[in-house]
Amino acid sequence: MIRKLDHIGIAVEALDDVRALYEDLGLREARREEVAGQGVRVAFLPVGETRIELLEPTSSDSPIAAFLRKRGAGIHHLCFAVDDLDAALESLARKGYRLIHRTPVPGADGRRVAFLHPEAGRGVLIELAEDGD
Ligand code: CO
Repeated sequence: MIRKLDHIGIAVEALDDVRALYEDLGLREARREEVAGQGVRVAFLPVGETRIELLEPTSSDSPIAAFLRKRGAGIHHLCFAVDDLDAALESLARKGYRLIHRTPVPGADGRRVAFLHPEAGRGVLIELAEDGD
């Protein structure tokens, strides 16, 4: 089901401030975009086969804004790339796992994504993204 660790999502108060830290560690921002449906602005910094995804809320009702209020800045989710997202979600639902999205929603990179419920991930928020290539 899983092809690779696509990215590690990190919730931040201020994108440029945290980006500067990772750039000082030797990474470079490859791209930035706003995902309107999720109320976030994201910056991707490749690191080997995977990427760091910095997530800054664009509104106070964004899930990332809620996370920052509750838990503070830090690791927010792991995203795994899968070949067939519909099949993966169907399989997980059939096995009884709680899903935030039963059907894929638009994510960053123009890809289809879905989140498992944190309860299903035993405290880890897991995102699945379809790898179209
Ligand atoms: Co993500």
